[in-house]
Amino acid sequence: MKTYAITFFDDSESLSGQTFPLIRGKTLLNNMLLHSVVTHSKCGGKAICGRCRIKILSQQDHCNKPVEEEKLILNESQIEQGWRLACQVHCLRDIQVYLPSVTEIEKQS
Ligand code: FES
Repeated sequence: MKTYAITFFDDSESLSGQTFPLIRGKTLLNNMLLHSVVTHSKCGGKAICGRCRIKILSQQDHCNKPVEEEKLILNESQIEQGWRLACQVHCLRDIQVYLPSVTEIEKQS
């Protein structure tokens, strides 16, 4: 069985470019937590806080389509650019993910 991977990018040298195995069936947020990738989540994955927002850098069809809960928090332009709520994303193949800083998240909110 093929193993898929998540590669993270951010502004830090400690994480950027690191790749982790993708555990299918778990949300991206849960994958991040399993690999000790820092998130800014405050609602525990209930699609309320919007603080788990990330940007999918690879093809969008490597993930499920945005769900209604995401459309309440992210605007159409953000979704078109690849912004998603990690707690609502299920990855189906290799993906590349950009992790914004807290400042960037707060600017978007
Ligand atoms: S964890 Fe709060 S919106 Fe995703």
